[in-house]
Amino acid sequence: MARTGLADPTQPVLRLDGIVKQFPGVRALDGVQLALYPGQVTALIGENGAGKSTIVKTLTGIYQPDEGQILLDGLPVRFPTAQAAGDAGITAIHQETVLFDELSVAENIFIGHAPRTRFGLIDKAEMRRRATEILDSIDAKIDPDVRLRDLGIASKHLVAISRALSIDARVVIMDEPTAALSHKEIEELYELVDTLKAQGKAILFISHKFDEIFRIADRYTVFRDGQFVGDGLMADVTEGELVQMMVGRSVDQIFPKRRAVLGNPVLQVVGYSHPTEFDSIGFTLRRGEILGFYGLVGAGRSEFMQSLIGITRPSKGVCKMGDDIKIIRSPAEAIEAGIVYVPEDRGKQGAITAMPIFQNVTLPSLGKTSKNGFLQMAEEFKLAREYTQRLDLRAASLDVPVGSLSGGNQQKVVIAKWLATQPKVIILDEPTKGIDIGSKAAVHDFMSELAAQGLSVIMVSSEIPEILGMSDRVIVMREGRIVAELEGDDLSPETLVRHAAGITSEAAA
Ligand SMILES: Nc1ncnc2c1ncn2[C@@H]1O[C@H](COP(=O)(O)OP(=O)(O)OP(=O)(O)O)[C@@H](O)[C@H]1O
Ligand SMILES: [Mg+2]
Repeated sequence: MARTGLADPTQPVLRLDGIVKQFPGVRALDGVQLALYPGQVTALIGENGAGKSTIVKTLTGIYQPDEGQILLDGLPVRFPTAQAAGDAGITAIHQETVLFDELSVAENIFIGHAPRTRFGLIDKAEMRRRATEILDSIDAKIDPDVRLRDLGIASKHLVAISRALSIDARVVIMDEPTAALSHKEIEELYELVDTLKAQGKAILFISHKFDEIFRIADRYTVFRDGQFVGDGLMADVTEGELVQMMVGRSVDQIFPKRRAVLGNPVLQVVGYSHPTEFDSIGFTLRRGEILGFYGLVGAGRSEFMQSLIGITRPSKGVCKMGDDIKIIRSPAEAIEAGIVYVPEDRGKQGAITAMPIFQNVTLPSLGKTSKNGFLQMAEEFKLAREYTQRLDLRAASLDVPVGSLSGGNQQKVVIAKWLATQPKVIILDEPTKGIDIGSKAAVHDFMSELAAQGLSVIMVSSEIPEILGMSDRVIVMREGRIVAELEGDDLSPETLVRHAAGITSEAAA
């Protein structure tokens, strides 16, 4: 009855105190506190592995804390199961969303709490009606009857959000919700957060993006290495202060690209076309070059990259490496030719989560570490250690399964694995998505150093500072075509955005 949305905004709905969570070899949470207030967004910030997702799992009944207490409206509670947390009005959109590929969208939204007929059967018509209502409320144009596996990642995320909304929640938790969304969908998500706030819900928002934290959060809490560092109001803090709290030092956010001397062409692409996704793509990539690909989501960048490594076939076009004309028909042929691709959706094509880190890293490089067919474990370790250290991977040891790492650290494993194959050309699709601000510098520094040693990089990124800071040259794509090729003084945030959005007249200024 108290759910009127008029709850006292100075009293937390949910409060966690002295929470400890120990995993074998890792104290993921070491006595942390967190408070969530009605009608307010609290941003939880911290490096990869700081304990953010672990606290989310603790307060949604997925993990049990070893010590500490959870207070709901000031009263101690326990959530022995996820269902119990849901019943108490706590719902979460997790970083690795647990959805079911074989079920329909509506079934995914209502699994575990489907509306029932008076005979106790699942009321499919009602379920579909309510699913449609929720999807409409967030402007998601998704058919509730379609199978989940037929959706793209962004749509799957919207299904996860709809699922969270289908529970009449008092507390909504979002763990890096915008990592998989396009610009337009991100704006819609912000509006959705505003709506939830207006309804008096307490929101926990986890993100590595400072612009969005400042855009939507009212409060912040910072964790470092499983410990509570501080909290307060966003209005009282600067980005620099937050970064300092997060990493315990100030971070030089200047991108460290060294202007390398570019070598001979390693890859020439001529007239690559596809019936629907892209048209007449051509460019030359030189040894040691970092070539940025900028564009709005949907510009065809990822689709083109996928055809370049043989996941899909171009309808026209050739690709030359050195003097050879290559037609790459499969990712295996691409690897053979020395081109590797680290996709944006690293979950799917990423790591084998049950296998230890070192084996994941060395898996595609086995030829390099095996002699006469025998794996050289020491060699494997050495290779894995070198690459993971350079990418600032945080793990108890290289023996632990990738599945036990934090989301951002899992991504670093995938990047390490492809870099370790020592390709001629690496295509990185949104390389620092989900990677914290401190590690980002490490990733950029390593990229830059490898380029200086002769690696050629194609970097697809939607982040303007990353594109500007890292690229020797930038290709801008719009609606499947190259609309600009920029370097030197022509590169600026304005020129990038203007070309990407198709604003041609200078009068826009
Ligand atoms: N199931 C598990 N088994 C063992 N260790 C785990 C498990 N889950 C998390 N950890 C460890 O707990 C620590 C905190 O991980 P957590 O996923 O909470 O980090 P995070 O702050 O969400 O990071 P990210 O920004 O990368 O998502 C990490 O050291 C991680 O390796
Ligand atoms: Mg996480």
